[in-house]
Amino acid sequence: MKPVLFINRNMPEEMVAPLREVYEVDMWPSASGAVPREVLLEKAASAHALWTMISDQIDEEVLDASPNLKIITNMAVGYNNIDVKAAQERGVIVTNTPDVLTETTADLAFALLMATARNLMGAEHALRDGKWTSWEPLGFTGMDVYGATLGIIGMGRIGEAVLRRAKGFDMNVLYHNRNRKSEMEDMYGCRYAVLPDLLAQSDFVLILVPFSEETRGMIGKEQLEQMKKTGILINVARGGIVDEEALFEALQKKRIHAAGLDVFETEPVPLDSPLLTLPNVTVLPHIGSASLPTRLAMMKLNQQALLAWARDEEPNHRVW
Ligand code: DGY
Repeated sequence: MKPVLFINRNMPEEMVAPLREVYEVDMWPSASGAVPREVLLEKAASAHALWTMISDQIDEEVLDASPNLKIITNMAVGYNNIDVKAAQERGVIVTNTPDVLTETTADLAFALLMATARNLMGAEHALRDGKWTSWEPLGFTGMDVYGATLGIIGMGRIGEAVLRRAKGFDMNVLYHNRNRKSEMEDMYGCRYAVLPDLLAQSDFVLILVPFSEETRGMIGKEQLEQMKKTGILINVARGGIVDEEALFEALQKKRIHAAGLDVFETEPVPLDSPLLTLPNVTVLPHIGSASLPTRLAMMKLNQQALLAWARDEEPNHRVW
């Protein structure tokens, strides 16, 4: 009898075919819609392996509903959607997909930073809406990126990749991280700063820390008040790191200049979210890692982890 694998989204057949040789594969038929919770619970009941997405909450309820479960492979570098402690207590391996998405996510972070600084989306919409009536001396003006100060909160792999891009724009880079990175400071001339200093001195504040109980609401009213009035907040990590109510207020009252958000507390962000009513917010649908080669590379890591487990080998990128 082959072990049972449930895949939470419709995946390309080229990724699934090798898995069919070693697993009884069951797959949610939609590539875009998340698997409904009740279906996930039902499928998990017989699964030995789960291939999950960041929108699937794998908590104690799911783990308790799946007595045969041995491995969860998550298609993301972040795994805050999985209760890893509970999985470990039950001996369920968890894997993720780091490294292959580093440069792609850094590209997107930088693109969002630039788009927000120059309000590219607002300018494009104005043009399409017939509001480009003449060349205006102060029309469509934004903030400069070149030579500005960038504060990176969370200096991991993606942070370093953004730092390299920022150096090409002659930016002055500050960072805040659990551990100081002296080698990086020497190599790139970036500076460590405690959070209040980073917030006060940066023109752009970029959030890249992993989401956890420790970082939930890390950027709230108090932190937003510490930012420059001309400051721009960019979040490509997880929505829950920022208090969205406080952010709305800071943007509406022009306490800060603008925000670029690829992530939200609730995803997909509800269309009645107050944030979507503001002209000084650039929004994207969580597309940090969304280049075709990178998404395929992430899938490949998931596929290889699943194949390894089925062959009694060590799966790649175990979280524990
Ligand atoms: C991740 O990998 O954690 C991203 O947020 C999704 O690609």
